[in-house]
Amino acid sequence: MSKIRRIGVYTSGGDAPGMNAAIRSVVRTAIYNDIKVTGIFRGYEGMIEGDFTELVSRSVSSIIQQGGTILKSARCPEFRTPEGRKKAYENIRYAGIDALVAIGGDGTFTGAELLSNEYDVPVMCIPGTIDNDLYGTDYTLGFDTANNTVIEAIDKIKDTAASHNRLFFVEVMGRDSGCIALNAGVSGGAEAILLPEKETAIDELIAMLKTAKARNKTSTIVIVAEGNKNGGVYNVAKRVKERFDFYDTKVSILGHLQRGGSPSSFDRVLATRMGYFAVNELIKGTPSATVGVRGTQMVTTSLEEALRSKELKLDEELITIAEVMNV
Ligand code: F6P
Repeated sequence: MSKIRRIGVYTSGGDAPGMNAAIRSVVRTAIYNDIKVTGIFRGYEGMIEGDFTELVSRSVSSIIQQGGTILKSARCPEFRTPEGRKKAYENIRYAGIDALVAIGGDGTFTGAELLSNEYDVPVMCIPGTIDNDLYGTDYTLGFDTANNTVIEAIDKIKDTAASHNRLFFVEVMGRDSGCIALNAGVSGGAEAILLPEKETAIDELIAMLKTAKARNKTSTIVIVAEGNKNGGVYNVAKRVKERFDFYDTKVSILGHLQRGGSPSSFDRVLATRMGYFAVNELIKGTPSATVGVRGTQMVTTSLEEALRSKELKLDEELITIAEVMNV
């Protein structure tokens, strides 16, 4: 086991609340263990361009409560090429970086796997995405905060829906993952939830809305994940309205406000645990992996397993519970 003297840390892909808390934890855990830290700006793009900075303990003061990422983020097509990765590796070596901590989603992890397979640099990956769609962890950084943001919005929309007897279609993020939609649907008391992972025909949706109306509900909320199988939220609303026009129908798209904001207490603690755990795994000599939380335990999962396992992340029981709550 060779001693690690310098760790490089970067964020890549979509930003998520809690990324800064994770950077802070990586920096401070490394410094505590006499390891220096280089911050790499704009993920793989900055790695290729050598856009680096020295991070000391005070560089990460008062960032635990900030959303976004102080290291910036980017998507980088050049890193998909061997030439791009070679440039990145040369910059890493030139900066004296022995190991990396990557914070991001599956695109970030894919880049980490390519780099660590081709070059002898271990990469510990921290799952950071509001989508909660990564294998090897019960929760990703930002998911809890995004849910709290969505719930605040839905509660407000419900006030108007109830006052005017309106039907609201609320679109939440999740191109491929229905985790936010399902959680928002349950905690916001929605009448129906359209998920990317599950087909709900428009006929079925209309039947649900008719049942809700027959049960004298005063407000009706349909949560639509952006990647649901019926197309965009305006299209869904239009198709329903054509055949069921009892309510005045409105559409709200929550969009990128779900990605921003100060991380919740849960996300701050999770980020701090993950950063601490990631650095300690590198010190122990664990080969490239993702870190995660399973129950109350921190665990690692090999990148191979994390990227190739096709586990359905949606909680089927929660889907059933959401239906039962509509009685
Ligand atoms: O961070 C994940 C995610 O929120 C997806 O749910 C969404 O489809 C995507 O990011 C949009 O990201 P961008 O605006 O960066 O393309």
